[in-house]
Amino acid sequence: MSKLWGGRFTKQTNHLVDEYTASIGFDQALAEEDIQGSLAHVTMLGKCGILPQEDVETIKAGLNKVLDKIHKGEIEFSVSDEDIHMNVEKNLIAEIGPVGGKLHTGRSRNDQVATDMHLYLRKRVVELSGMLYELQKSLVVQARDNLDTIVPGYTHLQRAQPILFAHHLMAYVSMFQRDIERLMDSYKRINVLPLGAGALAGTTFPIDRHFVAEQLQFDRVYENSLDAVSDRDFILEFLSHASIIMMHLSRLSEELVLWSSTEFNFIELDDAFCTGSSIMPQKKNPDVPELVRGKTGRVYGNLMGLLTVLKSLPLAYNKDMQEDKEGMFDTVATLEGALQLFAPMIASMKVNKSRMREAVNKDFSNATDIADFLVGKGLPFRQAHEVIGKTVLYCIQNGKYLLDLTMDEFKQFSDLFDDAIYQVLQPETVVNARNVYGGTATDQVADAIKRSEVLMNMTEQWLEEHQ
Ligand code: ARG
Repeated sequence: MSKLWGGRFTKQTNHLVDEYTASIGFDQALAEEDIQGSLAHVTMLGKCGILPQEDVETIKAGLNKVLDKIHKGEIEFSVSDEDIHMNVEKNLIAEIGPVGGKLHTGRSRNDQVATDMHLYLRKRVVELSGMLYELQKSLVVQARDNLDTIVPGYTHLQRAQPILFAHHLMAYVSMFQRDIERLMDSYKRINVLPLGAGALAGTTFPIDRHFVAEQLQFDRVYENSLDAVSDRDFILEFLSHASIIMMHLSRLSEELVLWSSTEFNFIELDDAFCTGSSIMPQKKNPDVPELVRGKTGRVYGNLMGLLTVLKSLPLAYNKDMQEDKEGMFDTVATLEGALQLFAPMIASMKVNKSRMREAVNKDFSNATDIADFLVGKGLPFRQAHEVIGKTVLYCIQNGKYLLDLTMDEFKQFSDLFDDAIYQVLQPETVVNARNVYGGTATDQVADAIKRSEVLMNMTEQWLEEHQ
């Protein structure tokens, strides 16, 4: 059989054109969604009296047969049939004869492909939210185990103030919570049906778009037929959210790589999640977080790519838009690959509590607290800052830490010091002094964990409702 659109043509298509314009190489990933949409469409054609019920039944049986054959790998897709839509239709006609040609009544590939993409992304957004939720669970388990682990907190990658390691991990739980909420919110704009828009203007057949939407469980139908076939905002939005997720993962990756270096030695990633070197026998490399960090680039690239494809495109459908797919598939695969490794990698990570403690003992990250102590004695903060700055300089010049100083040494800098400072300077005191909502005090972090579990329960419920 020749081209489905061959009537107007007097020549065969150049085979290079076939190859260049075909999308079947990648859009075959939409086979299931394509057939799901066609089944709903043809059911509607029957219900609206556009096709006789007998034809509808034949077409449905044929579509199911084609789907079954695709699953079994019995269908050979062909570039001369360009894309998944025409490959399915060709195979349907081969299966049931000319009646298969009635399927495309009142429909265009333009509203068909948009529908497939909406169906596809709707599923992926739920899957990815579930994977982010699993990662949050791993982080929370580690946070619970580290409510008593104190570690230096950093700004400018310089030791700043001691914090609970649990607090540090919970920052990522908050970040991934926002990611999940963004995905859940985007679902509303993904779950809109384009079908029925035809090529761009609607159709002359008395179709029922809302009935199709109901069958496919879409919440709404697109308001405007031109917008329905040319909107790719929902993919852009997904790629934006995906970029932010990868950015978050890359920040966590960077910390894992640093923390597992000999210099930090704060954590050890499980052997099952590391790789070795072909030459240096002692090496254990954190390849997974490194690669996640690296793969962030391709996800940003996919976002930039599609933004650029869509820029200045006139309404409505243009072939340029076929370029929306590979970046989207690649982004889904990249995110899924990273997230499915991250949850168990975090869960199995060993935390070197004593090494973290040693780091906290050997630094000046309690300096703010001793300044605050002087403020409590009535000294203006700016002067207290100066006094402690000088005290720290003295320590550095004499190879000491603040807790090593005698009272006489302290008194050289201010008479306001008294014995209470030895308690004030203890890392536990320093951490627990930050007893504000969202701060690092143990009680606050324990509360924060409880609050995040409430949010995570809401995610779990949403996931159940959208499976
Ligand atoms: N393969 C095409 C795409 O992905 C399907 C829509 C084709 N429509 C058209 N008018 N040529 O965009």
